[in-house]
Amino acid sequence: MEALRIIQDEHRNLWRIVITLDKLLADSVSDATIDVAFFNSVFDYLEHFVDKAHHPKEDDYLFRLLRLRSTAANAALDHLEAEHRAMPEALAALRAKLALAAADKMNTHAFLVALGAYVGTLKEHVRIEERDVFPLAQQVLTPADWAEIDPAFLDNSDPLFGSQARAEFRELFHHVATLAPVSVGLGAHSAGELPPAVPPQNITHEVLLSVSDLESAYGRIKALKGISLEVRRGETVALVGANGAGKTTFLRTLSGVQPMSAGKIVFEGEDISRLRADMRMRRGICQSPEGRQVFGPLSIEDNLRLGAYTQPKTQVEGDLEKIFTMFPILKEKRKLPAGTLSGGQQQMLAIGRALMGRPKLLLLDEPSMGLAPLLVEEVFNVVKALKAQGMTILLVEQNAFSALAIADRGYVLETGTITLTGSGRELIEDEQVRAAYLGM
Ligand SMILES: Nc1ncnc2c1ncn2[C@@H]1O[C@H](COP(=O)(O)OP(=O)(O)O)[C@@H](O)[C@H]1O
Ligand SMILES: [Mg+2]
Repeated sequence: MEALRIIQDEHRNLWRIVITLDKLLADSVSDATIDVAFFNSVFDYLEHFVDKAHHPKEDDYLFRLLRLRSTAANAALDHLEAEHRAMPEALAALRAKLALAAADKMNTHAFLVALGAYVGTLKEHVRIEERDVFPLAQQVLTPADWAEIDPAFLDNSDPLFGSQARAEFRELFHHVATLAPVSVGLGAHSAGELPPAVPPQNITHEVLLSVSDLESAYGRIKALKGISLEVRRGETVALVGANGAGKTTFLRTLSGVQPMSAGKIVFEGEDISRLRADMRMRRGICQSPEGRQVFGPLSIEDNLRLGAYTQPKTQVEGDLEKIFTMFPILKEKRKLPAGTLSGGQQQMLAIGRALMGRPKLLLLDEPSMGLAPLLVEEVFNVVKALKAQGMTILLVEQNAFSALAIADRGYVLETGTITLTGSGRELIEDEQVRAAYLGM
């Protein structure tokens, strides 16, 4: 079922573009100037990806075999295939309307109307596939079917869907992201190397961080009342809890910027309870703080360099390039003050800055806080990508569902006390957690 994962990953990228277009359509007034370069890059992406690679593969493999196994989706498949055939022409018509609008403002309205119709069709198309077709495919297709479908999607030398073609899609997606108006976000890493479906088998049983009976107080008010928690090397551990539960206090205590009144912190076998904050950073505990806290007047590049202040100078340039590869938008804007970035981009910067310290344990304090849903997903994709690269992560979130969904294990924190722990999946399925945090 690898193919399904690839399709769904691509749908997510497509969805981001679609939502961006939706937002632009909602914002645009009739006399708005049309950003031709941006729309052309979107259309290039759609043409290359959707029309040339994605759709033919679906028709030739997934849909064909699905028809053999079940008739239940035939009507939906007829509809989808007809749309697949019609979409290139619709896109060409849209490009023509864009050219007219670029030449004469009078034609802007007609372009926006046509764009709205196209986007509506695309959305419904993705919805039908996700809602009606994929669940059926999962049910009725046999392992032999998948053995035929998957290689078609995974074939790395395939000119239409191989690694070369995918690299081009990524380029195009980044191009779209770079040109998208800041107000709608999309400016960060998202179309990067797709994370593998199964988590890498790099979780060891080696305990990297072990916290026992940790207490911390603000004056007479105990914010942490005896926390015990473990993170193994390679793990992503989520610490979820409501506002005021003590999540930030806990991370700050780990980093050493918040005093502890009892308990013990052991990192890589060493008791670091009394170690100064900068020494903990040197040991590899690096934090992306709540509310990002980037230095607004300082350039993006200098913000990143700050994250490396405990590191040998010789590695900084190379690390900087790595961060720029991961977050192309930061490279694009490297010389600009960090304060000019959107909220989502500042979050990428805060994570990038923490990575510049070469963390062995990355602490993320509510990276999704205050971001629009589209960007929340982008941020979690970044966390997923880091996890796939083998980073050990302690992720603190109020957004319990998203955090637990990508975590290997999780802890639930309530007013300074751990009340529940288990695998990410167990906690998501736990009725108490669902009622308290997931709103269902
Ligand atoms: N600087 C502070 N002074 C006094 N109390 C604080 C301070 N920071 C946090 N607290 C209190 O400690 C508790 C935990 O806060 P915090 O760690 O920020 O929670 P969370 O990050 O889970 O929202 C809350 O009751 C909060 O009011
Ligand atoms: Mg907090």
